[in-house]
Amino acid sequence: MADIGLVGLGTMGAALALNIAERGYDIAVHNRTVEKIGQFVDSAGELASRLTAAETPEALVASLSAPRSVILMVPAGAAVDATIDQLIPLLDKGDTLVDAGNADFNDTRRREAALAERGLNFIGMGVSGGEDGARHGPSIMVGGPEKSYAAIREIVEAIAADYQGSPCAAWLGPDGAGHFVKTVHNGIEYADMQMIAEVYGLLRDGEGKTPAETAPLFERWNEGKLRSYLIEITAEVLRAQDKTSGGPLLDVIRDSAGQKGTGRWTVIEALKLGQSASAIESAVAARSWSSMGEARAAGESRFGAAEKGTLSLDDGELEQALLAARIIAYGQGLALLQSASEHFDWSLDLGRVAEIWRAGCIIRSDLLDDISQAAREGLPHGLLTLAPAFADRMETAVPALRRVVLEGLRAGLPMPAMSSALAWFDTMRQSRGSADLIQGQRDFFGRHGFERTDNGLSDQHGPWAD
Ligand SMILES: NC(=O)c1ccc[n+]([C@@H]2O[C@H](COP(=O)([O-])OP(=O)(O)OC[C@H]3O[C@@H](n4cnc5c(N)ncnc54)[C@H](OP(=O)(O)O)[C@@H]3O)[C@@H](O)[C@H]2O)c1
Repeated sequence: MADIGLVGLGTMGAALALNIAERGYDIAVHNRTVEKIGQFVDSAGELASRLTAAETPEALVASLSAPRSVILMVPAGAAVDATIDQLIPLLDKGDTLVDAGNADFNDTRRREAALAERGLNFIGMGVSGGEDGARHGPSIMVGGPEKSYAAIREIVEAIAADYQGSPCAAWLGPDGAGHFVKTVHNGIEYADMQMIAEVYGLLRDGEGKTPAETAPLFERWNEGKLRSYLIEITAEVLRAQDKTSGGPLLDVIRDSAGQKGTGRWTVIEALKLGQSASAIESAVAARSWSSMGEARAAGESRFGAAEKGTLSLDDGELEQALLAARIIAYGQGLALLQSASEHFDWSLDLGRVAEIWRAGCIIRSDLLDDISQAAREGLPHGLLTLAPAFADRMETAVPALRRVVLEGLRAGLPMPAMSSALAWFDTMRQSRGSADLIQGQRDFFGRHGFERTDNGLSDQHGPWAD
């Protein structure tokens, strides 16, 4: 009998199944398009002996040892519900379904409650690291009933990335907690990628550098404070040559990126919780604008392009600017997690979250070690930027962020994520902001009332109320 089952042999499911088999577990696999099952097993080489090809959901369930656990690796939404509906009648009380795709955590909460009524366990498990991570060791964020995690914990920890002897996998909280953390992870990923792309844009358009001239800079940064997976792969993408044109690959890639799932959900959930993760919001917005190529071209012909080749930025200052913006993006993500944790009563351990992001996932970076330590010590006012180790870094890095943003904006080059990160930072170090005027305006037109600073009385009105 197999130790675990898996439905969905796409990119991630196939890689995860091989990872599980390689760690010494027997796994039964099923896929909607049945031909792919045999092809997958045939291509698995010596791992095939650990795989059971199940051509029907019935065969899948029949080949599992009880209590059964089945991982679903299908696209979020209707496909997950359809797969669950197929499996429910075949399962017994105490069996566990694990949705390992990028689900909307609201759906995970709904599914967990519905399956609990039937005596079935439902785990929402975020898996990060792309295909390579799934195959060799992803970061795994688990949510659902804590007791049901026991059924899959051994396998999950065995297949997860390893950071200095500690698995990058953890049960983080009940119902949708795991998928929520994965969603915010992806939101941070959006912000980090966008900020890196903004720096690439400054170097390409502002300084007139080719991708190959820019690559060494990222390679150097990857040896320093910015060391991370995304900086590392950026250098490789910058260096890639296109076989057809013979020129840089980037020059033939359309400048349009989608934003359908987790990035958008991060922003929606942040706003629902009364938060604003502005760097993530701007990154999602930038992807939306990126898809409006014809409108952007019309804008350029009407208003003219930004100045090209007029900037001469200091490499060290760019590095510091990116560091400051990255810390702000991580900090906004953590603040959002904290807010959701309080709202949904999850008791998220932010230190542990940062720890399991240190290897295997797309946003893995050297910073996360310090972030987990700062989170364990408690973030002052919930802000990473106020944690002593980070406040010192921000003092040095924010002036660089300011100069880089100023230079970029002066040349007319867009920097939505970095400039909004800076705006957030400046707002959060201003003890007296300008919302007094907004309150005055609201009271003027709507008699909404305001609170006085001198005597603390609320529901006060201006002279227009007389
Ligand atoms: N790709 C990544 O880097 C990555 C990273 C982290 C998380 N994820 C998440 O992982 C999940 C799977 O992604 P993927 O990249 O592996 O997708 P994929 O390569 O497109 O594979 C999708 C799989 O789902 C099956 N499927 C699609 N619609 C179905 C339906 N209505 N009913 C039953 N099965 C259905 C497909 O079966 P057929 O063969 O029959 O079409 C296929 O096996 C998604 O939630 C994705 O967001 C992806």
